[in-house]
Amino acid sequence: MFGSLEMAPPDAILGLNVAFRNDTNPNKINLGVGVYKDETGNTPVLACVKKAEQLLLEQENSKSYLGIDGLPEYGPLVRKVLFDGTVEESRAVTLQTPGGTGALRVAGDFLKHKVGASRIWLSNPTWANHNGVFSSAGLAVEAYTYLDNTGLALDFQGMLDSIAQIPAGDVICLHACCHNPSGVDPSPEQWEQIADACKAGGVLPLIDFAYQGFANGLQEDAAAIRLFANKVDEFLVCSSFSKNFGLYCERIGALTIVAQDESAATAALSHAKKAVRTNYSNPPKHGGAVVTTVLGCDDLFTQWDAEVAAMRDRINGLRKLFVDTMAAKNSPVDFSFIQQQRGMFSYSGLNAMQVDQLKNDHSIYIVGSGRINVAGLNSGNVEQLCDAILQVL
Ligand SMILES: Cc1ncc(COP(=O)(O)O)c(C=O)c1O
Repeated sequence: MFGSLEMAPPDAILGLNVAFRNDTNPNKINLGVGVYKDETGNTPVLACVKKAEQLLLEQENSKSYLGIDGLPEYGPLVRKVLFDGTVEESRAVTLQTPGGTGALRVAGDFLKHKVGASRIWLSNPTWANHNGVFSSAGLAVEAYTYLDNTGLALDFQGMLDSIAQIPAGDVICLHACCHNPSGVDPSPEQWEQIADACKAGGVLPLIDFAYQGFANGLQEDAAAIRLFANKVDEFLVCSSFSKNFGLYCERIGALTIVAQDESAATAALSHAKKAVRTNYSNPPKHGGAVVTTVLGCDDLFTQWDAEVAAMRDRINGLRKLFVDTMAAKNSPVDFSFIQQQRGMFSYSGLNAMQVDQLKNDHSIYIVGSGRINVAGLNSGNVEQLCDAILQVL
């Protein structure tokens, strides 16, 4: 039965990583895959995570299964980071999930099979995996306008017009901050109008929150979801601690469902748990235990906040360094937009041919759409990158 199978197409972004590993050029640069890197090119373990792991090693006395929705302390602590009291606790339920991807898939299953949703609308462009995750859950996938013709700025009117066309009862997937792949986020005033448009059209918001703390701060970046909490009766948040805790391989995220009242929230939780039970049964413990330990301890939380700030400041500093270096080299293209964008990613404006040339002639690896992982830059490779970009422009 397997003999007739043809090869599945490789994952575009992870495939780039394989090509990078196989490249023997000692000066190769990887700006493709979506992990944070420090100045030495390492993806570090946060100090607060190490401390939490030490505590867990000393105190853990069982490896028994967790509940279907994870550690009991996890949900309330996650909701504190997300909402900081802006949603009544009785209206919100949280499941510990394997990464943000796990949260998105459980949300997709829940929406399709229990809520009766048939369609989800994704920003054009969006994170490449959104499409596959939601279609695997059985939802039809459509796109709403996000970027303007330059591909580097928000087409806000186009976005509002698109939302107005979405039929009531459909779901819209929004990026709370650090839009992946573009780095282009709505302003606070624009978020108000987006929430109003969803409410007016009866469109259910599903907010993907994978980069809390990477734009302007842990609290600042939660402004959009807190605004929805104020304006909208029902929505979902799929959050991830992969990036802001550096816990990529531990697979830790959360699905939070906000409902109109307590009984709706409790019923929603029971159905989301069914989706988990028939998928991976219950979540892995370690990442959730680390996050719970850090979020539940004032000192560790303060340390985490400072470590997230250091990652954010480094990324924003690299944005400036890149823009300044290109300007100093009299680049014919004005790259100042990179400094306005936020998060780990930016659209560089480079086209597929230029991206190919960077790979083939300079061993610089960038996703075909021109998306760069800003965190892959450092003071040692920025000159090389800028010179190479100038050659392919
Ligand atoms: C927008 C977005 N959503 C979700 C995820 C999934 O994160 P996780 O690794 O926690 O599954 C990512 C990861 O790159 C992402 O960029």
